[in-house]
Amino acid sequence: MKKIIKLIKFTYFLIKNFKYINNYELYFDDNIFLLNQKSKSSIYLENNQPVYSLNPIDLDDNFLISYKRAIKRNSWKNSNIWRTYIACCAASNSLNLEGDFVECGVNTGGMAEAIISYLNFKNIKKNFYLIDTYEGIPPKSINNDEIKAGINTKHYKNVYNEVKNHFSKYSNVKIVKGEVPFVLNNLNIDNIAYLSIDMNVPNVDIKTAEYFWGKIVSGGIILLDDYCYSSKYTLNKKNFDEFAKRHSIKIYQIPTVQGILMKIPLSWSKKIIMIIYEN
Ligand SMILES: C[S@@+](CC[C@H](N)C(=O)[O-])C[C@H]1O[C@@H](n2cnc3c(N)ncnc32)[C@H](O)[C@@H]1O
Repeated sequence: MKKIIKLIKFTYFLIKNFKYINNYELYFDDNIFLLNQKSKSSIYLENNQPVYSLNPIDLDDNFLISYKRAIKRNSWKNSNIWRTYIACCAASNSLNLEGDFVECGVNTGGMAEAIISYLNFKNIKKNFYLIDTYEGIPPKSINNDEIKAGINTKHYKNVYNEVKNHFSKYSNVKIVKGEVPFVLNNLNIDNIAYLSIDMNVPNVDIKTAEYFWGKIVSGGIILLDDYCYSSKYTLNKKNFDEFAKRHSIKIYQIPTVQGILMKIPLSWSKKIIMIIYEN
């Protein structure tokens, strides 16, 4: 009975807010988006996970234009607006730091497209390295624990030529084809201001962070796309929590399921972590 009442209330809510849902159709694709008119807060399903937020209409126009461009890359099945917004903010905050941008796990480049457009990257004196096999997850890269947890080699098409053509208009966007972590040794990147990790294979994601950590500049950001995404990615969270503890930092766990690691000077981070663990 309770369930039926809930369902009726939910349907009523949907009908009442239909015009809002309709208004946001452009950005919110097939996701349910509920706006509480009084508080202007919303509940939105991002990759099938609820995200509570302020009214997304307040996101800046430049971002919404960039997000529309990103959607056209067909990188995602579901809407990804809040994750993309976080990525754009993180990349934007890394702009004034010394060092390049790197994304490991690119697919057709939805997230990269949003950042490139949002920051008008062609005018930035940095390189953006987009690293991927461009033909999916290498089957042998998944270990037994990950197979048990449900990680699989979900099919990705070979998109190398298309991605290379698409981004060729930016001389500072470098398409790197190869298997992470092995391909990383071929690169010549000294300093990194922004690193995005999104390969959907926990042991590969953590190896990437280990490899690049020494190159991340002070204040630089590592954005983890699937830090706390469903039980399938518990291993990812576990690996990165251990990593963070080893480096005396705390990961920002955010409701978009992403995680943000900011590299702050060790002397500060040790103090912060001591306070957190002592309390
Ligand atoms: C979820 S998609 C990336 C989506 C992208 N970050 C976005 O949001 O626009 C994951 C990508 O990781 C790549 N990948 C998985 N394992 C890899 C590995 N070991 N080396 C290189 N690329 C890998 C796959 O080919 C796939 O394109």
